[in-house]
Amino acid sequence: MAIRHFLSLADLAPDEILALVERARELKAARAKGRLTPLLKGKTMAMVFEQSSTRTRTSFEIGMAQLGGTAMFMSPGDSQITRGEPLKDTARVLSSMVDVIVMRTTAHERVQTMAQYASVPVINALCDTYHPCQILADLQTFIEHRGDIAGKNIAWVGDGNNVCHSWMNAARFLNFTLHIATPKGYEPDAVLVKACGKAVKLSNDPLQATKNTDCVVTDTWASMGQEEEKREREQAFAGFCVDEAMMTNAHKQALFMHCLPAYRGSEVTESVLEGPQSVVWDEAENRLHAQKALLELLVA
Ligand code: CP
Ligand code: NVA
Repeated sequence: MAIRHFLSLADLAPDEILALVERARELKAARAKGRLTPLLKGKTMAMVFEQSSTRTRTSFEIGMAQLGGTAMFMSPGDSQITRGEPLKDTARVLSSMVDVIVMRTTAHERVQTMAQYASVPVINALCDTYHPCQILADLQTFIEHRGDIAGKNIAWVGDGNNVCHSWMNAARFLNFTLHIATPKGYEPDAVLVKACGKAVKLSNDPLQATKNTDCVVTDTWASMGQEEEKREREQAFAGFCVDEAMMTNAHKQALFMHCLPAYRGSEVTESVLEGPQSVVWDEAENRLHAQKALLELLVA
């Protein structure tokens, strides 16, 4: 059977994405009853992380343990990659010993190279272009709270970044509309915008984007690797902080989502993040369940 990688949401068919979310919900319910089935007993996972992480690392490592397998975490200083060993060599060596490789990196090309040379599935745990695992958990969270996402209107307020790109993919594959508001110059990738057609609507106005939407999503204004632009970005993103006014402008029942880590007072106010519409803790927990379902699909 051909190896299946998960580098972006495009690697799963729309019905597979929805089935995976349902499976994640089953695994969540089972764990709540104390039932952990060793579906990946004896399987091993290498985690090559070239960027910081709290949620992604924890959810993959604990998820693999709950599935009966073993996870090995490699931070940049632990492997020979930092000392110049090519990824194509690393990919082949790891493939000879593990059943799946999870990689968090800078450029998308790096995870593509890993996948090109690996003979086991490679999972993108965030790169500069996509964060597909996050969106699996976000879809699960939306569906748990509001049911079917098809036909819904979701607002993205802030940077046209990796998480935004994965939401865009979700919109085009699952038939909902993503209303994106960014400051000028911070729009998402133009090629992806074109590919999304009517599923994505762009503006530079957060009130236009959030109007009557079912969910408002944001993320940090300065992603990993953009630390030096932080001050410049804070100025450019003035007016893009998700606050009560934006939430009131959305549907009364609108959810608030953020992949975390959140910077209170920048992209979101404390009161929205901690408020009754916020489902950010569910999103974080669902990383565990969604990725267990993903591992089952790719590795079992
Ligand atoms: N949302 C997310 O990916 O968080 P971490 O960077 O902590 O893994
Ligand atoms: N856009 C953020 C997401 C962090 C989970 C980043 O890339 O740093």
